[in-house]
Amino acid sequence: MPDTSNLRDAALPQTFAIKSFGCQMNVYDGERMAELLTAQGMTASDGRAEADLIVLNTCHIRERAVDKVYSDIGRLRREDGTVPLIAVAGCVAQAEGEEIMARAPSVKMVVGPQAYHRLPAMIAEAAAGRRATDTDMPAETKFDALPRRRKSGPTAFLTVQEGCDKFCTYCVVPYTRGTEISRPFAALVDEAKALVEAGAREITLLGQNVNAWSGEDDKGRKVGLAGLAETLADIPALARIRYTTSHPTDMDDALIAAHADNPKLMPFLHLPVQSGSDRILKAMNRSHTVESYRKLLDRVRAVRPDIALSGDFIVGFPGETEDDFAQTLRLIDAVGYAQAFSFKYSPRPGTPAATMDGQIAADVMDRRLQDLQAAINRDQHAFNLASMGRRCSVLIERKGKLRGQMLGKSAWLQSVHLMTDATIGDLLEVEITLAGPNSLGGTELARVAV
Ligand code: 5AD
Ligand code: SF4
Repeated sequence: MPDTSNLRDAALPQTFAIKSFGCQMNVYDGERMAELLTAQGMTASDGRAEADLIVLNTCHIRERAVDKVYSDIGRLRREDGTVPLIAVAGCVAQAEGEEIMARAPSVKMVVGPQAYHRLPAMIAEAAAGRRATDTDMPAETKFDALPRRRKSGPTAFLTVQEGCDKFCTYCVVPYTRGTEISRPFAALVDEAKALVEAGAREITLLGQNVNAWSGEDDKGRKVGLAGLAETLADIPALARIRYTTSHPTDMDDALIAAHADNPKLMPFLHLPVQSGSDRILKAMNRSHTVESYRKLLDRVRAVRPDIALSGDFIVGFPGETEDDFAQTLRLIDAVGYAQAFSFKYSPRPGTPAATMDGQIAADVMDRRLQDLQAAINRDQHAFNLASMGRRCSVLIERKGKLRGQMLGKSAWLQSVHLMTDATIGDLLEVEITLAGPNSLGGTELARVAV
């Protein structure tokens, strides 16, 4: 560990704010950075402009990521013309760190997603007037250098796996997050227990390819994500386990079976397909076909018929014809997603697809995105309507707008609002009595003891 005992010096920042963009893993990383800085004696500030140190925890996955970072940096200038100490972290830092340092003199630190455990030492450098960059992907893991988890709301994220070896031709992740690594079993069980002690009732296991996680359990047996989830299910006060994001080719038999056998594993599967055309899937270097994907979903539904399915779609990948796009709409019709994310293709610098022939015009992409989102919204509403009359658990996450109203999530990850005197973190048995396009209403039947 670097010597950061002087972090309390007056010249050093006393307060900080972290702004995370992008995926859930960035949210997790932002929390870990906050814990790290707090352990160094700094205090989190609410008003972003007032903080001595601002960390922009950036995302590089789509459109205009870098432009957004520059405009965010510009907005950090205070009314009196001074600027806080600015650190750019996350995936844009990894991909464009040098350029940012050259173009934005007010940025004093650039730190990649695998190096943020070194932030305290970098802050000391920066406070002493030396700009610091660290975009190493060191072999030792940052996780060992982070403090124990002490704070958690009812739902928590836990990164179990990072990076990607799949090299889909549109995607920057293999370049920004590095190759696939799995965190060790014992460290994960420990972190999960700490989160539960701190109040978590639901843990979402995170990874760019979360179902590629593998490790050795406490008896030295090789296990996959299903084995990890089985052990986590033994933590008494943990009520729910989720995981995201999965890759179709890493979906093994044990994980499918776990959806029937592990009562704490929620009936929800986010399994991106990206396109409904085999030709496009091949150009994307996805290692599945439409048929293999559909067979996989059939197997999951066979063991867990009520499972809510979710996915990711890209429209306008280079060379996508009207017919390819029509095949994507047909796949959506056939699957009936409970929800899904959809994006316009965005050429990412350095990825193979960025220089492919047949880049699609913006107006064509816009129309395809609209059509695709209409199909997804229709199916989401249908899924919500089909939930009417069902009984399910709801984990209360926050207060609603109305007096006495609370909001939580169903087992299928739908937002549910209901009138109750339950408090945040309570688990209720609820009957679903209202279904809208984006949320449900329910009536409390009972409290569930966790
Ligand atoms: N353009 C558009 N969408 C992308 N995604 C990843 N890379 C790109 C890109 N270059 C989407 C994929 C992925 C999700 C996290 O973001 O659908 O599953
Ligand atoms: Fe964005 Fe991907 Fe980095 Fe997450 S891993 S922040 S989605 S670029």
